Amino acid sequence: MIQLYHVHKRYPNGCDALSDVTMRVREGEFVFLTGPSGAGKSTLLHLLLVMERVTDGQILIGGRNIHVLRDASVPYLRRNIGVVFQDFRLIGRRTVFDNVAIALEIMGLTRKEVERRVGQLLDGLRLTHRAGAYPGDLSGGEQQRVAIARALVNEPAILLCDEPTGNLDPDLGHDIMNLLLDVNRRGTTVVVATHDAGLIERYGLRTLVLARGTLVEDRPRSGRLAPIERGPAAAVGPDPLATSTAATSAGAAAFADIAEEAP
Ligand SMILES: Nc1ncnc2c1ncn2[C@@H]1O[C@H](COP(=O)(O)OP(=O)(O)OP(=O)(O)O)[C@@H](O)[C@H]1O
Ligand SMILES: [Mg+2]
Repeated sequence: MIQLYHVHKRYPNGCDALSDVTMRVREGEFVFLTGPSGAGKSTLLHLLLVMERVTDGQILIGGRNIHVLRDASVPYLRRNIGVVFQDFRLIGRRTVFDNVAIALEIMGLTRKEVERRVGQLLDGLRLTHRAGAYPGDLSGGEQQRVAIARALVNEPAILLCDEPTGNLDPDLGHDIMNLLLDVNRRGTTVVVATHDAGLIERYGLRTLVLARGTLVEDRPRSGRLAPIERGPAAAVGPDPLATSTAATSAGAAAFADIAEEAP
């Protein structure tokens, strides 16, 4: 599903953020991407979104070489990729509800369907009471959850998360992980960039380790998934993804429309 071949990224300032990275993430996998600050984790995610272009090498998503796409085709790719940025990137002048709803509105869903889907996600992330608030009035953890709701709302085939538990207290971080695992169980491929060694240790999932732009380790999942505990304050609500169709859209078919748009 995601394939990198000898990927090199040099920024215009001469910084080599990634060097000769070759890796593959299969459809439906859950992968942690880790390494010290500056290792290239965010850069790798930005390349997958074509927010940056590779300097050398190739990236294939759903069989498509994404770095030969015309700029006009990039939105078709991004439609299938949910992303939670390290700095959230919420729209300050839109409410929580509207921040989450925007992708669905762009897709032309009816108001009723938008309300149903957004309501369900906000409920699951315990944000319903903040639906009318603006991002500037939210705590870091609340903003994080809104960013996650926004990334999930159009049921993407791939979910990319940059430090999704970075601003959360441990209970809430655990909650978010449960939600991401749930999304993954429904068929979405999930890639989580994180420094959080404790988080990685606890879940025993496949872990790719970057150091100064180079892939230095590919740890397979250990199989010993930590039991999923939920503190009383940390319970994720009643299955926010119950009607998700992510599993059916997670295949290469999700990227078929990109082919039509490519040169
Ligand atoms: N837009 C940019 N222009 C120039 N250099 C950049 C840019 N973005 C990142 N870098 C450099 O590329 C390297 C990798 O940065 P990146 O943000 O990918 O690391 P990271 O692993 O995500 O770090 P962190 O854990 O701190 O988020 C760093 O040396 C960084 O300074
Ligand atoms: Mg980063």
